[in-house]
Amino acid sequence: MKMNQSNIKKARKFLDKNMCVAIPTETVYGLAGNAYSDIAVKKIFKLKKRPATNSLIVHYNNLNLLKNDCILNDTFHLLYKKFSPGPITFVLKTKKNSKISKYVNNKSKTLAVRFPKHIITQKLMNTLNYPIAAPSANIFSSLSPVSAKDVREEFGKKIPMILDGGTCKVGLESTIISLVNKPVILRLGGLDKNKISKILKKNLKTKLTSKKNILPGQSKIHYSPGIPVRMNAKKIKKNEAFITLKKYKNVSKNYFNLSKNGGANEIAKNFYSTLRKIKNKGYKSIAIENINNIGIGLILNDRLKRASKK
Ligand code: TXA
Ligand code: MG
Repeated sequence: MKMNQSNIKKARKFLDKNMCVAIPTETVYGLAGNAYSDIAVKKIFKLKKRPATNSLIVHYNNLNLLKNDCILNDTFHLLYKKFSPGPITFVLKTKKNSKISKYVNNKSKTLAVRFPKHIITQKLMNTLNYPIAAPSANIFSSLSPVSAKDVREEFGKKIPMILDGGTCKVGLESTIISLVNKPVILRLGGLDKNKISKILKKNLKTKLTSKKNILPGQSKIHYSPGIPVRMNAKKIKKNEAFITLKKYKNVSKNYFNLSKNGGANEIAKNFYSTLRKIKNKGYKSIAIENINNIGIGLILNDRLKRASKK
């Protein structure tokens, strides 16, 4: 991790010139651009090959700029105090005079915002007078990057700079909650939904797909390693890698465990990097053992279902 002031300065210079740089966050790496600049935001969509309807998350350090861009309600303040900075994204109503580029959210009246918890990105944002639009730093529908090397694999020399912040601590994208009307979870992610429910003192509804609007990860294939993925596998085929949650003894080299003992944080952290490792080793397909649909399993099954769509 190259934590020095000159790298942060360099990144700031690129961003000021409406160029895109990759930034580390606690969840996954982001492909950042000035959220107030049409030019920068259009570049993000082009680099990612992302449909214009799939809106971006805007990253802030605190409420100073956000106050001008979005309407902040009581539920927001409550959750912000408890969980930000951290792996939670809020969908809020935008203000009429918000400076956010219309390309960020496809001219919609809502905006997804988040406060990333990574010292390098926080330091970078402290030097900027605009928020950062940043989707995960991968080509549309491919695996999210959790290290600078992963980002390089996705974009090669197409981006001028990757701010290296080491391996992402959480390893899964942020949990998205809409606070536009009654609170509703739009994407399961790095912050356990039950922790949010506890603070709000109610059981939160989850709405992961919608016919009307593009919701997080709604497109059919998403989070895909580019080779077939089979869930609930019992037997392994030839040239196939097998992913298990825990480490088993005396297994062949095509077994990949996500954790030693089944700890949720370790599993989350290793998830994308394991899929990427398997793909890079040249396996023709991936089989995954049955994962119970609770806790971290709920999130993995959601991502895997989308990754396994053809
Ligand atoms: O952890 C994260 O959230 C990472 C890091 C870089 O911050 N970012 C991330 O961004 O995962 P991305 O673009 O890969 O996913 C953002 C999701 C998209 O699927 C999009 O549909 C949804 O957020 N989204 C953006 N704006 C929205 C809005 N106004 N209403 C509902 N969903 C929205
Ligand atoms: Mg993404």
